[in-house]
Amino acid sequence: MARTTKSTPKKREQWSGQAGFIFAAIGSAVGLGNIWRFPGVAYENGGGAFILPYLIALLTAGIPILFIDYALGNRFRGAPPTVFRRIRKKFEWLGWFQTIICFVIILYYAVIIAWAGSFAFFSLDLRWGDDARSFFTNDYLQVTQEVGDVGAFVPHILFGLLAVWIVTLLILGFGVQKGLERTNIVFIPLLVVLFAALVIRALFLPGAMDGLNALFTPHWAALADPQVWLAAYSQIFFSLSIAFGIMITYSSYIKKRSNLTGPGLVVGFANSSFEVLAGIGVFSTLGFMAQQQGISIADMDDIKGVMLSFVTFPSIVASMPGGSIFGFLFFASLVLAGLTSLVSLLQVVSASFQDKFGWDARQAAVRVGAVSAVLSILLFAREDGLFILDVVDKWTNEIGIVGSAIAMLVALLAFGMIPVLRDHLNAHSSFRIGKTWQVLVSIVVPVVLLWMMAAQIQSVVGTPYSNNPVWFNTLYGWGAVAFIVLAATIMTLVKWKQSPDEFVPEPTLPNERIYAKSIQANTQGEN
Ligand code: ALA
Repeated sequence: MARTTKSTPKKREQWSGQAGFIFAAIGSAVGLGNIWRFPGVAYENGGGAFILPYLIALLTAGIPILFIDYALGNRFRGAPPTVFRRIRKKFEWLGWFQTIICFVIILYYAVIIAWAGSFAFFSLDLRWGDDARSFFTNDYLQVTQEVGDVGAFVPHILFGLLAVWIVTLLILGFGVQKGLERTNIVFIPLLVVLFAALVIRALFLPGAMDGLNALFTPHWAALADPQVWLAAYSQIFFSLSIAFGIMITYSSYIKKRSNLTGPGLVVGFANSSFEVLAGIGVFSTLGFMAQQQGISIADMDDIKGVMLSFVTFPSIVASMPGGSIFGFLFFASLVLAGLTSLVSLLQVVSASFQDKFGWDARQAAVRVGAVSAVLSILLFAREDGLFILDVVDKWTNEIGIVGSAIAMLVALLAFGMIPVLRDHLNAHSSFRIGKTWQVLVSIVVPVVLLWMMAAQIQSVVGTPYSNNPVWFNTLYGWGAVAFIVLAATIMTLVKWKQSPDEFVPEPTLPNERIYAKSIQANTQGEN
């Protein structure tokens, strides 16, 4: 009797319903990117004027690509490698490219959550005293003197990171409905309550209005700078969790024949509202600090990225009545928002391996989680972790994710998939999309993204980022991109343990015949 080498895929898990999916998708979108990244990016890139490129990026690329991700995942029912392979065999590589981007982000994302967890506890007794900068860099991170000095492990960061990994893997191991969905249904409302309390308190601080003026006063000249537009588009991609596999994976667990665009709009606007809320909360607080010190926000240091959250915020908290509670609310919010995004990033990697190797959720959580945990500890629980994190984050986002978005749109256009996806979206959705969406995703967005990425590559090649030595940026920045490309190639070459091509298209859609032909051509010669 002939032996088959590939097993039939198991029945795919599903969200319990639309609400479960919406909570999970908001949980993924609202993350460190909203609280830790957005306020600083907005301020640096034109303040109030940044709202314009941000909104344009949301409407021209964010929501349209979110719809593409939903249609891909829901229609082709798999993690990114499965989805892209079902469109064209050779296209599997792009799926792995997206999966490995998630893998790289996971490695440093978990570390920031671990720091936030520690700082939530430090808030209770204002452990940083009156020098938050020295506490964070010297006592807590024990940062090396120079960029490029290799640092030793920092035990308390290692233990914090282990705790984050244990919680994350437990959530993942319980699977889509019992693990991811239940966690988001509890964590997201809790996050909204904590964060709303924080923003309301911040708005009543003396000086809050000066902070809001600093954030929202437009500097129109910034709009002429391509970097500002790139910052807006890459912020939208990272923040909405699009173009790197997360929403593809999450929508593969939505029941077939579901409303996709309606929930997409809810998720897109919920995420941006949270982002603007974070900007309001953070800048009201900065306004308070500026007033206390008798300076203007423009003269303040450390109002961006990691330093904003872990140096400036703690300093403010120390000088505020009821600061301990305020600090706890802020860092607990970071942990909740971060964890619900971290599980979504890890789910992409886990689902890709489940699809290819037939593992169940528990096996995948343990195996993928163990490798990620070890690597994140080796790279980031070190005294030089902060410098590496900064560079890996910049390159992975501005080159990896933007590159992935361009490649995905160009390939979908070349394979004639855009009309198929439009029909899929329109078949059961409350909000119908048409020509405008098609023109945006086929022409406008790829052209704008290509132009921005060229400008970005020119800038990182021309001026050493963050005054780091060139070798350091090459090793960790371009190294991260090279790792993503290489790992994606290796994973594509590995043989499937279960059949990826078992897929029954819905026969009712107008473009189905074109699609059926393309699938036939694709699977011919399959071994
Ligand atoms: N969307 C997630 C964030 O904003 C990854 O942090």
